[in-house]
Amino acid sequence: MKILVTGGAGFIGGNFIYYLLDQYPSYRVICYDSITYAGNLETLETALKNPFFKFIKGDISNSKQVFDCMECEMPDIVVNFAAESHVDRSIDNPGIFLQTNIIGTHVLLDASLKLGVKRFHQVSTDEVYGDLPLDRKDLFFTEVTPICTSSPYSASKAAADLLTLAYHRTYGLPVSISRCSNNYGPFHFPEKMIPLMIINALNDKPLPVYGKGENIRDWLYVVDHCKAIDMIIHNGRVGEVYNIGGHNERSNIDVVKMIIRELGKDESLIRYVEDRKGHDLRYAIDPAKIKSELGWVPEVSFDEGIKLTIKWYLENRAWWERIISGEYINYYKKMYENR
Ligand code: NAD
Ligand code: TYD
Repeated sequence: MKILVTGGAGFIGGNFIYYLLDQYPSYRVICYDSITYAGNLETLETALKNPFFKFIKGDISNSKQVFDCMECEMPDIVVNFAAESHVDRSIDNPGIFLQTNIIGTHVLLDASLKLGVKRFHQVSTDEVYGDLPLDRKDLFFTEVTPICTSSPYSASKAAADLLTLAYHRTYGLPVSISRCSNNYGPFHFPEKMIPLMIINALNDKPLPVYGKGENIRDWLYVVDHCKAIDMIIHNGRVGEVYNIGGHNERSNIDVVKMIIRELGKDESLIRYVEDRKGHDLRYAIDPAKIKSELGWVPEVSFDEGIKLTIKWYLENRAWWERIISGEYINYYKKMYENR
């Protein structure tokens, strides 16, 4: 079995590569990634020592590069993690989100169809469903919740999902889609909320909480997401969408206070800053379908997962210190200096 993982030098794709190499030692795993600001070959340092793993640098929206790679490797399965993934950046500069997330997915679908790939799996997000009100805790996203996006990021991901389904219905490409809630864990890029708060707290820097910190996210430990994708690509039904989430809803301010407590810091570090434009209020996944069809259940509680994550950031300072001392300085100034 040969699996092509696009975007594997990023947060979830990187975790997925380690998960595959560990679970299926006989599989060949290829990472295809253009190494944007969010991609990091240091994340794949250990994998690169494994003879069953190979890294190929390339852009998913470049048809020639994709065909060259896929004609040479002829993967059985393609799992597409490659994306521009940060909502705040999509508000600042939407164009690249359309190029990578929509055009890039199309190029991969086209190559997968022409080369007879046996399964194309699109890694999507619960953000395609828009948001839920804060005062209706009885409401959850199911797979039939209408697509209703808020940000350029979620709109581009929704477009990619629709293209993926169109390639199944129109051309018979064997596809599947997963829509997961917010992930956290090792190798999470420091611009996202949980690693940003851990790193700022460790450096005794202000913790910028958008608005009143009341927005709710449904957090899932990244390895539980990897397990779910594994189950879907091996046993999930073709042409289907599966929601992934562990019923772990938390307000942002509660998560920030938990990180402060775990690190023994003081709540005076919290700064309430200008809210995100179009800020989604609440995400909450109903994972009943993947549970009943594939037997998936999350295994890592938030209490345990946040401890594991903080421990990882403490033990892997070199990984994130190199990131925050580079181009990230300019990004941080632009996003937070006058907020
Ligand atoms: P990330 O930003 O950490 O990593 C993205 C990776 O894709 C990077 O390695 C980057 O170099 C690569 N990439 C970007 N543009 C590319 C291009 N044009 N060609 C080739 N490679 C390119 O993202 P992540 O958080 O690991 O998210 C991975 C996927 O999971 C995304 O599709 C995202 O929409 C989805 N997702 C993320 C979350 C989350 O909480 N992070 C939740 C649900 C779904
Ligand atoms: P983020 O990690 O960017 O994920 P997403 O927007 O995809 O859910 O943000 C998670 C939540 O944290 C979101 O409600 C925005 C909020 N947030 C802050 O309050 N401060 C920050 O500095 C960041 C990056 C996010």
